[in-house]
Amino acid sequence: RGGMGGLAAQRGILFGATLTQGQVVESAEMVRIATEEMAMLVPGFEFKWPGLRPGPWEFDFTGADAMLTFAEARQQAVRGHALVWHGALPGWFGDGPADAMGMRTLLRHHITTVAGRYAGRIHSWDVVNEPVEPWDNRPDGLRDSPFLRRMGLDYIDLAFRWAAEADPTARLALNEYGVEMATPEQDARRTALLKLLEGMLRRGVPVHALGIQAHLSAAAWRDFDPAVLRGFIRRVAALGLECYVTELDVTDRGLPPEVAVRDAAVAHTYRTFLDAALAEPSVTLVALWGISDRFTWMNDSRFARREDGLPTRPHPFDPAFQPKPAWGAIGDAL
Ligand code: XIL
Repeated sequence: RGGMGGLAAQRGILFGATLTQGQVVESAEMVRIATEEMAMLVPGFEFKWPGLRPGPWEFDFTGADAMLTFAEARQQAVRGHALVWHGALPGWFGDGPADAMGMRTLLRHHITTVAGRYAGRIHSWDVVNEPVEPWDNRPDGLRDSPFLRRMGLDYIDLAFRWAAEADPTARLALNEYGVEMATPEQDARRTALLKLLEGMLRRGVPVHALGIQAHLSAAAWRDFDPAVLRGFIRRVAALGLECYVTELDVTDRGLPPEVAVRDAAVAHTYRTFLDAALAEPSVTLVALWGISDRFTWMNDSRFARREDGLPTRPHPFDPAFQPKPAWGAIGDAL
């Protein structure tokens, strides 16, 4: 394989990006870049509950099947994202089943059906996405989600056990955001995560990797300390777990409007982050959460969009699909 995916493979890194069926249909340029540069694809919508679950007992695999077929035709690995996530649930879910048994039945049915259908074809599953939230003020730092409220910690342990049973070959990851920076808030996330992972391993839960989302901010980059990130990755490695960089992108929110200034700062952020992360041998995978600024989730996010209303430039290709300085920076880091 050539392209960036081939370059990364020489270093033992599985490199790829998120892609959606909509982008495949709409943009021959996205298809070209994804085909030439990516050794792995992460369907951005199709494996989430809203993509798979039109109703409480119904499944629609059309989108997920199409994305897998697309990737397999290109001999690309596929990450499954995500089996359990409070942040993307279909309307019919509401607050979910009212009691522990109802929630357990629904989760088990979903995980067994989805992970079972694609068994042997998925490199890694994000089994639980974003389970930690120190702002929710629980002593364990866990997120006060409908899953936790009904089932307690069981929802995490059981989700991994059911996923392992349904697909014994997939690597199983717990995916989290906001753990990259040297701030007190992110320090609290790291502490809560380490405690959670330690407990899971003690209980014999089959977890193989921590997914570090890495939605970064160029304007806040003074709060990045490579030693803090590397120290955290090492503590995770000491538990016997790999780290995956699962959703790498760099918002330019808070930077001045000049494109050259924004692009340079964004490139620097990609470079220094990857230099630090890839210095740790337990980091074996890097996935970008966007290829071209033409298709970015950030303009829709109130946390990531620019306050001045200009379109953000968080990804390594510009809206016309030309490589930006960030693409060179990623290549240099790899
Ligand atoms: C985002 C998608 O990119 C958007 O298109 C969608 O509207 C919302 O979700 N953390 C995650 C990803 O784990 O699933 C999110 O993806 C971005 C934040």
